[in-house]
Amino acid sequence: MTGPPRFPLAVLPTPLVPAPRLATGSPVLIKRDDLTGFGTTGNKARAMEFLLGAALRDGCDVLVAGGSSGSNFLQAVALAAACGGLGCELVIAGEQDSANLRIACGAGAQLHPLGHGDRAQLDDAVRRLSDELAAAGRRPYPMPRGGSTPTGAIGFATAAGELHRQLAERDADPRLVVIAVGSGGSCAGLLAGASDWPAHRRILGVSVSRPLCEITPILHRLATACADELGLPQPDMGRLELLDAIGPGFGLPERADLVAASTALTAEGLLLDDTYTAKSMAALLARAGSARSRLGAPAVYWHTGGLASAIGRTR
Ligand SMILES: Cc1ncc(COP(=O)(O)O)c(C=O)c1O
Repeated sequence: MTGPPRFPLAVLPTPLVPAPRLATGSPVLIKRDDLTGFGTTGNKARAMEFLLGAALRDGCDVLVAGGSSGSNFLQAVALAAACGGLGCELVIAGEQDSANLRIACGAGAQLHPLGHGDRAQLDDAVRRLSDELAAAGRRPYPMPRGGSTPTGAIGFATAAGELHRQLAERDADPRLVVIAVGSGGSCAGLLAGASDWPAHRRILGVSVSRPLCEITPILHRLATACADELGLPQPDMGRLELLDAIGPGFGLPERADLVAASTALTAEGLLLDDTYTAKSMAALLARAGSARSRLGAPAVYWHTGGLASAIGRTR
């Protein structure tokens, strides 16, 4: 694969391990991206390797991003900036304190409250802050929420190959790969990198923040642009199935999500967060529990991380 330079940050490959006690009726393998080993940034460490590589290639001297206080991506941006010798300016919507933000500040990030407006205004605020920094003589590298650009998605295009190799080593042939979808970069990257996968292997994208009518075109656009950037064949979008798991709202779990988190904790010792991984686990367990289960064959659950929030959860 060609593409932008990669700045190694994560400990890869992450383990692919069986989850024999989840009682799904069919074998489940867990892709442990909660163990990417770069702070507690989970899946976002993968995107950051390519975003930081591109920022350094472009001669930038400060990373600029925005998110809510629970954002694992912001922790990744701050740690990556520190490792790459760059500044870091973060726009924060809503609450201004969380474990992720404390880690980011410990790495030297400067926080800017969004003030009025909600998460939808973050990308505009990041652009404005970048313009101000550029006017002051800095060379900013602005990123949209979640780092979900075609370049950021390359992190998961390479992860698709990583998984494929690990499955081949185990002689495993899962039919379903379940992954949480927020801003879309991770799932889009998987789609772009899945050109070597057998046609019967599908991806279940569990959308936790955007309705399907909004996230579907985003995933198509990002996957296509990511494949173009890498010179890969056009992604097979027929491989993707999407599930709306927003429930009561972004970051708000419903009962099935809490039960899924508790099941994963007690059966396998997995820590899941309310925003992303509890919802994707609930989707996997719901598939396993339905009478005409599509899980009737081995599956992969992609544990995308969220440990900073998971450790802070009180339920
Ligand atoms: C723990 C976790 N899982 C899943 C996701 C979703 O990834 P994406 O935004 O690339 O869709 C995120 C995004 O921040 C995350 O932090």
